Amino acid sequence: MSGATGGKTVKVAVTRKLPEPVEARLRDLFDAVFHESDDPLSPAALIERARDADVLAPTLGDRLDAAFFEAVGDRLKLVANFGAGVDHIDVAAANAHGVTVTNTPSVLAEDAADMAMALILAVPRRLVEGVRALEAGEFQGWSPTWMLGRRVRGKKLGIIGLGRVGEAIARRAKAFGLSIHYHNRSPINPHIEDELDATYWDSLDQMLARVDIVSVNCPHTPATFHLLSRRRLELLQPQAYVVNISRGEIVDEEALASMIEEGRLAGAGLDVYERGAPSEKLLKAPNVVLLPHMASATVESRIEMGERMIINIKMFSDGHKPPDRVILGLDDGRLPQAG
Ligand code: DGY
Repeated sequence: MSGATGGKTVKVAVTRKLPEPVEARLRDLFDAVFHESDDPLSPAALIERARDADVLAPTLGDRLDAAFFEAVGDRLKLVANFGAGVDHIDVAAANAHGVTVTNTPSVLAEDAADMAMALILAVPRRLVEGVRALEAGEFQGWSPTWMLGRRVRGKKLGIIGLGRVGEAIARRAKAFGLSIHYHNRSPINPHIEDELDATYWDSLDQMLARVDIVSVNCPHTPATFHLLSRRRLELLQPQAYVVNISRGEIVDEEALASMIEEGRLAGAGLDVYERGAPSEKLLKAPNVVLLPHMASATVESRIEMGERMIINIKMFSDGHKPPDRVILGLDDGRLPQAG
């Protein structure tokens, strides 16, 4: 790797404002170039920045497609993503141009699971609706029939993609008295399955027809785009809820919003959306709790994501294999099938 500033030989281009301790550590270790604003760089600015660097440290929203890797030249050797999901990066194109891609899995799993659990509780118990009613002056005192939601205990939770985050959700949900069901391409380690008392469903369709709450926890890939299609959403019982903290593209958002509006589904708790932000239709739908992609938004998670990213850069630039290399086709058998 080329370039030298004050003895720091590795040039790292960062694309977004990162937590201060993360930027400080990057500054200590590398010849780092930062982006002061919180706005994403334009595609042209991304290319310009990456052309002149050994390592690019992008994040969600920076689209690194085949054209990007074509345009970027030979210097770039590592894309060290700040974040677990890499659906904004064409990993095959990166690898074809000799660029390694890393991400930051694990460190955000517990915080993300807390937020999924919060949605699993908030939607059936009408938490946000209650807060809004109170703030609007509609609370006139306790009533035997007002604000009745649905009991969570005893319900069946169906997790699509029981990986790190899915498992952390399952542990929480079990403690709240939900029974755990999951669909993966193959069953998880039997010890963990026993511990969670989890039921494996080879067929996603069959699981959907039987559960009360669905939690989407698989990565977004071409194979999982609209995995929860209209046809699949129609398999759910009308009293079922959908929770998604993974990626919006996995659910047919238009179909979901229509079905909730028509009373064919009970509601949804979402942190992610097909087009980045929720559609008008979803915003107007009843029984939805919509969050602004904040499942991993804790100070601790974001700093640990930065630390993980730095470990990857350091290992790579010292000539070792970075621990969180994204390897195409390697998904622990957890990635559900499309269809
Ligand atoms: C990720 O890391 O991909 C998350 O979606 C950010 O919260």
